[in-house]
Amino acid sequence: MKKPQFIEFPKIGETTLGYITVAEAQHNVPFAIKRVYWTYFTPDAVERGGHAHRELEQIIFAVCGRIDFTLESLDGEYHEFTLEKPNIGLYIPKLYWREIRFSHNAVLLCLASEHYTEADYFRKYEDFKKFSV
Ligand code: TYD
Repeated sequence: MKKPQFIEFPKIGETTLGYITVAEAQHNVPFAIKRVYWTYFTPDAVERGGHAHRELEQIIFAVCGRIDFTLESLDGEYHEFTLEKPNIGLYIPKLYWREIRFSHNAVLLCLASEHYTEADYFRKYEDFKKFSV
C-alpha cells in the first residue's frame, strides 16, 4: 500500500525574479491528472476534509499560506503534515481519512487522478473504518 508523503517539485528562478514550479503528469506526478481544483477564503477556524476516497489519489499544494493535514490509514496509522512552501506537494494515496485546517490566506491546489464522483467518497468515518481491502 502506498504511503502519504511530500514530493518536492523544482523551484525555477531566483529571489530577484520570483519562481515557477511545474507539475507534469507521469513525470513528477505519479498518475495521469484528470482534474484540478483549488479552495480559497477558508476561515481559519474551519476544519475541512472529514472524508476518505476509495480510488482517488491526489497531490495537494499550499500555493499560498499554511495547510495542516491529519491523515489516518485504514489500519489506524496517523500522519501529520504541514504544507507551507508552494513547491512542496503532499501525495495522498487512496483510502486515507483526512482532516484539514487552513491559515486565513491559504489557497489549496489539488491535482487529482480521477474525475469528481460522490460515489468515490467515504463521508462517514464508521463506513471508512469498516471497509477492508
Ligand atoms: P469536498 O471534497 O467535500 O471538500 P472539502 O473536504 O474541502 O470540504 O467538496 C466540497 C463540495 O464541493 C462537495 O459538495 C462536493 C463539491 N465538489 C465538486 O462538485 N467537485 C469537485 O471536484 C470537488 C473536489 C468537490
